[in-house]
Amino acid sequence: MTDDYLALNRAMWDSRAAAHAGSVDYDVERFHRDPAAISDVVRFDLPRLGDVTGLDTAHLQCHIGTDTLSLHRLGARVTGLDLSPASLEQARRLATVTGADISYVEADAYDAVAALGATYDLVYTGIGAIIWLPSIDRWAEVVAELLRPGGRLFIREGHPMLGTLEPVDGRAELTYPYFEHEDPLVFDGDETYVDTDEQLESLPSHEWQHGIGEILTAVLRHGLVVESFTEHDSVPWRALQELMEPHPDHPGEFRLADRPERLAASFTLTARKPG
Ligand SMILES: C[S@@+](CC[C@H](N)C(=O)[O-])C[C@H]1O[C@@H](n2cnc3c(N)ncnc32)[C@H](O)[C@@H]1O
Repeated sequence: MTDDYLALNRAMWDSRAAAHAGSVDYDVERFHRDPAAISDVVRFDLPRLGDVTGLDTAHLQCHIGTDTLSLHRLGARVTGLDLSPASLEQARRLATVTGADISYVEADAYDAVAALGATYDLVYTGIGAIIWLPSIDRWAEVVAELLRPGGRLFIREGHPMLGTLEPVDGRAELTYPYFEHEDPLVFDGDETYVDTDEQLESLPSHEWQHGIGEILTAVLRHGLVVESFTEHDSVPWRALQELMEPHPDHPGEFRLADRPERLAASFTLTARKPG
């Protein structure tokens, strides 16, 4: 497979970054208004994240930096990495305006070891990150190399079970692969996952699913010790549109409106590099 997908995905993400930063969903303004504000995503993580004070942290696929800033505000020393320069422009602007000392690096996640040139106590990633990577094994190899002995991976991600589904006529249809596949799923459209009035370009995206067994196998194969694995009935975007409604207890989260216990919508995995 050529690396054309990278250029195409970069163009798609670049074209969405400003609209995301201006959206009520990311609510960037709240970080300006309130110096203690953290994102709903990181707030959801808190019970599993633990104390990150003083941890050297790499945030892979950091997008416009709202979660990166949140980790910084919790006391971590964070470097964000992303493929999309327009996303990083928004992330740098947010850090500057809020006076946060955060470094940002533009690179493909697969090149993170060379691009960052450092090792970390914590690698944090997720929420629509690994679907942009063709091989979960290569990703786990990178994560394992980025971690110091004793360092920890924290990933909360959309569940591959959710990724198989498509809303059709008021029902969820089993449409997409569950297991990792060689050829990407190619989607074309002028839509995005936030509410926006901006006219977006219709650009293709290239995505890959990775099954839970494949994710766990990859992490174990690269020497990490799994410390926790939790499945959640919600995800922080309205993935199945009208079939989902806001979670009653978790701001910014969506779950099935009808019998949400039927669907694992996201998962959190933590794993440690033996020290
Ligand atoms: C949905 S966002 C990540 C989610 C982030 N948690 C958020 O919502 O702010 C996906 C990000 O992955 C980045 N990305 C996609 N492919 C990448 C790659 N190969 N290497 C690094 N970043 C990549 C995109 O540029 C985008 O900023």
